Amino acid sequence: MPEKIFIFDSTLRDGEQTPGARLNSGEKLKIAKQLARLNVDVIEAGFPISSPGEFKAVRSIAREVKGPVIAALARTLPEDIDAVWEAVKDAERPRIHTFLGSSRIHMEHKLRKDPETLLSMATEAVKYAKRYTADVEYSLEDATRSDLDYMCRVIEAVINAGATVINIPDTVGYAVPEQFGELIRKVMEKVPNIHRATLSVHCHNDLGLAVANSLAAVENGARQVECNINGIGERAGNAALEEIAVALLIRQDYYQAFRTDIDLREIYKTSRLVSSLTGIPIPVNKAVIGVNAFAHSSGIHQDGILKHKSTYEIINAELIGGIAAQMVLTARSGRHAVRHELQEMGFNLPDSEFEEFFHNFLELADKKKEVFREDLEALMADRLAYAAPTYTLEYLQTVSGTGSIPSAVVKLSKGEETFVQSDFGAGPIDAAYNAIDKITGLHLRLENYNLRGVTEGRKALGEVSVKLEFQGRSYVGRGTSTDVIEASVRAYLNGVNKILLTAANGNGFAPDKAAGQP
Ligand code: KIV
Ligand code: ZN
Repeated sequence: MPEKIFIFDSTLRDGEQTPGARLNSGEKLKIAKQLARLNVDVIEAGFPISSPGEFKAVRSIAREVKGPVIAALARTLPEDIDAVWEAVKDAERPRIHTFLGSSRIHMEHKLRKDPETLLSMATEAVKYAKRYTADVEYSLEDATRSDLDYMCRVIEAVINAGATVINIPDTVGYAVPEQFGELIRKVMEKVPNIHRATLSVHCHNDLGLAVANSLAAVENGARQVECNINGIGERAGNAALEEIAVALLIRQDYYQAFRTDIDLREIYKTSRLVSSLTGIPIPVNKAVIGVNAFAHSSGIHQDGILKHKSTYEIINAELIGGIAAQMVLTARSGRHAVRHELQEMGFNLPDSEFEEFFHNFLELADKKKEVFREDLEALMADRLAYAAPTYTLEYLQTVSGTGSIPSAVVKLSKGEETFVQSDFGAGPIDAAYNAIDKITGLHLRLENYNLRGVTEGRKALGEVSVKLEFQGRSYVGRGTSTDVIEASVRAYLNGVNKILLTAANGNGFAPDKAAGQP
């Protein structure tokens, strides 16, 4: 019987430390509920002491999300641990996760305390946390640059103090697989009471080795892996959850001693949801969930795939709840083919809505020779996001070029009314955003802007996601077009409409209909 590898998801804590990835409480809750559907074992919901908003977000996850253990992070300070407990105590299964540096670099330059003082701080913190709950995790920050004997002493002491999970983080992504595997094996051999705890690893991706290091650790005794959806996280990110879960399954021949309980069919949806709410795009070549992960482009590969899929494909897209091999649609594809593709993607539109969609499809197919499922998906996301628009883009003209002052004219409609404004800016997009601000009267801060091509070629559809800050809250807007300036304006308007919907909903959260589709 294969042994279970526990999946500890830190998307909402370490993942949210990705620059520009701030999530509001409603967004965090939405992701946490999806992580529960993905069947992760532990959700690290946040770092409650860091702000009142973070505290509230963790508490609402603890109260509302059933299934996984709900953990939150604390330094070894009593006030941090108190805050974690207050935030997670209503969870079905709460966990307190506390940490302290163990490397000489951290001890001397950051903590400025000697090893023995730090060792006793660690044990005191675990004992303090233990007064609240049986489930206490202790992390030795910067473990991979720490002295092994000191680390083993700390581990033995914190287990004696009551820690039930011991985490070995590669905080700076310094480890390489063989050496990291050996480190885990040595910890298993040298710490006499290690069998009383679960050994965990937490790998960062600074050298692109986070997944490889995590798998090497599993082979050598780690039974919990900490990882994030889409591999997001501090700096170069953390080990990607989807890569670890899929690797353990696809290479069952090699990893036959191990299994996870992850529901792989939820991976695609979870990945898209995290990307859309954080505003961090998924690289096209990202393993397992990138757009190109199932696309075959060379003639030799296409020929092989048509003869037998196994020639060039080791992962079936359906395994992760994604979309199977692509059918290329053109302006000559009839309603039947387009409807079939939509149904394959999980969209069943009533006739009247389908006609409208088909009209959008023909407009796109006129501009672009070939239309792929990703194009349809982007059109669909656009439709859903605009299902109840407050402002609609009617007209856009921008002027830019070397030696000219960028300007824009924007016409928007809202119900029966229309509004026209023009403005200047640092570039045509900035000018258009300024014109929109004049119309809406909202003063927004652009926190994050991302542009990606969702399909290939010069006529590819561009998808823009923006993160807008308004009165202390963040809103993600998305828009698509073959014209990137228009996509940028659509994304901005989508964000503006969400803000207005939020206000109309009496300050509740605007329904993010585009998120997580299909
Ligand atoms: O990278 C790290 O060391 C961490 C710990 C707090 C677990 O994120
Ligand atoms: Zn980390």
